[in-house]
Amino acid sequence: MTTKTTPASQLPTWRTLQQHHQAVRDLHLRDLFDADPGRGERMALDVLGIYFDYAKHRVTDETLKLLVQLANEAGLRGRIDAMFAGEKINVTEGRAVLHTALRAPKGRQIYVDGQDVVPGIHEVLDKMSVFAKQVRAGRWLGFTGKPIRNIVNIGIGGSDLGPVMAYEALRHYSQRDLTIRYVSNVDGTDFVETTRDLDPAETLFLISSKTFTTQETMANAQSARDWCLAALHDPAAVARHFVAISTNASEVSKFGIDTANMFGFWDWVGGRYSMTSAIGLSTMIAIGPEGFRELLDGCHAMDEHYRTAPFDQNLPVIMGLLGVWYTSFFGAETQAVLPYDQYLKRFPAYLQQMTMESVGKQVTLDGARVDYQTGAIYWGEPGTNGQHSFYQLIHQGTKLIPCDCIAFSQSLNPLGQHHDFLMSNVFAQAEALAFGKTALQLRAEGVPEELVPHKTFDGNRPSTTMLIERLTPRVLGELVALYEHAVFTQGAIWGVGPFDQWGVQLGKELANRIVPELAGGRELRHDSSTNALIRRYLLANRRG
Ligand code: F6P
Repeated sequence: MTTKTTPASQLPTWRTLQQHHQAVRDLHLRDLFDADPGRGERMALDVLGIYFDYAKHRVTDETLKLLVQLANEAGLRGRIDAMFAGEKINVTEGRAVLHTALRAPKGRQIYVDGQDVVPGIHEVLDKMSVFAKQVRAGRWLGFTGKPIRNIVNIGIGGSDLGPVMAYEALRHYSQRDLTIRYVSNVDGTDFVETTRDLDPAETLFLISSKTFTTQETMANAQSARDWCLAALHDPAAVARHFVAISTNASEVSKFGIDTANMFGFWDWVGGRYSMTSAIGLSTMIAIGPEGFRELLDGCHAMDEHYRTAPFDQNLPVIMGLLGVWYTSFFGAETQAVLPYDQYLKRFPAYLQQMTMESVGKQVTLDGARVDYQTGAIYWGEPGTNGQHSFYQLIHQGTKLIPCDCIAFSQSLNPLGQHHDFLMSNVFAQAEALAFGKTALQLRAEGVPEELVPHKTFDGNRPSTTMLIERLTPRVLGELVALYEHAVFTQGAIWGVGPFDQWGVQLGKELANRIVPELAGGRELRHDSSTNALIRRYLLANRRG
């Protein structure tokens, strides 16, 4: 494994940006807008139907020029080309990174180890389509001959968050006589509550796991098998009630699922980048193969935009660079994602894994410690709920929290004046964040002097507003690829590898060591705190 990566702080423009930050950090958005009446229209991009307003960011034209320069120095263009060409840019695992190939149209040629991967991708998509159509038409029968009406996806991390997010986001387009649910947590409550009211004879489990060895998923899959067979009494029922989505055919067979009922993908699809692979089978069942193709087309359109647009007109590049600006120069710790659409309620959770597992790294690709801040903490809730919860801190707290607001001009559920209320809130919040309310304004309104400090809004709190016509499968695909590539951009600038996740290993190893200890009767050799906790658990369960 050899890679020469220059830490971002050693790129010539990093230093220039540090000096530039000193010069502009106290500029107020009020002044930037006053000085430039055209700022609002100028600092916006309209790409693939996403109107991306970044005027309310603490940047000048010079800032953007320098950030683009930084991207060039970091070799972003070469990194993008290497990813799309199937080079093994996941260096610590020796893998190509080709989620973009999953959305490529038939006829494209993309090679990994001398083999064109596109025909295989379309073969799996075709197999998924046949299966999804059978389920949707009630032609996939359970063991007793009843049609399948309930689909339960069992998976965790990338094998859950993307599918559940997409299902919720596209529920409007889903086939409503199917019940589609998701089990992820190894906490038995998740499985029990999810299946409580389901009839095993009408239930199909999609066991989704890239590795097919993940403890949580395998435990849930085993419980699903037991639950199913307790009602259907014959192991032959597994073939009608279980399908697998995995890269690991031998583990799938060992579990007892016929590989004829397996939908494959490849090691060059990272878990958190896998919702457009066979991992999206539940999405396809929900919205149909045509809807799923629209989702893929949306991703592909954004992939092509990212691959070809000049950096200063490139949505994922601009989004990624703004993140670098706030994280590494302003020292912002978090990034809020605030969808003003109820259907996107799981989008922030989905982005947490995508971003934090990708760029939550402390060393560069060649193993050197970074001396700057990397990956932000992503979090959020749909507006307007968040406004009545945590926006207080965003507006008047001591922390700088850049916000992404995502909103749609047309509601999928027009109801009285609801949508105007919703949209008035998203416009108002971004305005309030940027411009605030001064003591002068408050006094002019006659606010008593002792309340002035409490009612003052400093403003200068940055936000992006993405305004899109309507939430469709295609638009969701565009948004997914937008964030995927923004994260890639950040990884390239910070010099970290966005496609491995060694940071999840240690906890897994220690848990595997502790499992047998929880049976009791073993000598505990942890630190005194962990020993005491385990002892207390054993005592509570009378396992001495
Ligand atoms: O949490 C670590 C992780 O490896 C994720 O990256 C991945 O999405 C998840 O576990 C699930 O893995 P699998 O699909 O192999 O079950």
